[in-house]
Amino acid sequence: MQFNKKQSQILNDIIIARRDIRGNNFISKKIKKKHLNKILQAGLDAPSVGFSQPWKFIVIKDEEVKNKVYKNFKKEYDKSKKYFKNRPIYNTLKLEGIKEAPVNIAVYYKKPNKKILGQTSQKQMGKYSVVCAIQNMWLMARSLNIGIGWVSILNPKKVNELLDVSNEYKLIGYLCVGYPKEFLNTPELQTMKWNKKMNLKTTVTYI
Ligand SMILES: Cc1cc2nc3c(=O)[nH]c(=O)nc-3n(C[C@H](O)[C@H](O)[C@H](O)COP(=O)(O)O)c2cc1C
Repeated sequence: MQFNKKQSQILNDIIIARRDIRGNNFISKKIKKKHLNKILQAGLDAPSVGFSQPWKFIVIKDEEVKNKVYKNFKKEYDKSKKYFKNRPIYNTLKLEGIKEAPVNIAVYYKKPNKKILGQTSQKQMGKYSVVCAIQNMWLMARSLNIGIGWVSILNPKKVNELLDVSNEYKLIGYLCVGYPKEFLNTPELQTMKWNKKMNLKTTVTYI
């Protein structure tokens, strides 16, 4: 199968228009099952080291569970504030949308019980494979005008406990999924002057 220029441009548009969506931007509109399945299937279609497919997805809609996860976020966020005392804006950032998003997805890496092709020298490759799955999901969601926000300010052991997941699974991404009011053109952390977007000139070295 060959793609044409127009299709390539669409992929480029989706990549550029993808945003991290947080609680200040989610609306309560429900996600259709067929759309949620498309997003999950995009995760399953990601590349993985040795084709090990070391992922597991937990879809969370239960408000009580979401509230408990949010409480953990709040605790971890409050603890993290001491690291950014020189940047007071940190205390005002909205860095999750756990309760506002109609769906949360916890994406896990399953530790292997045998040697994995390609993972013999660098054992983190399995976890990187799960990150590939998350990026696929993020882009598929964007193509459906559904937003995803990645929450990493969580204690993974506590999340395992809350979701009743054993410690042979490692939390890679906790995703808040829902329709946003809008997809902004610029990353919020750029608008808030937290960081600037890098460019090819300063990022790529040719040898
Ligand atoms: C591994 C990873 C973890 C992230 N964790 C958080 C997080 O805990 N809270 C948050 O608000 N955004 C989180 N983000 C989103 C980034 O802040 C966001 O991608 C970045 O600011 C660029 O904005 P954009 O995704 O809208 O382009 C995370 C993104 C990645 C890739």
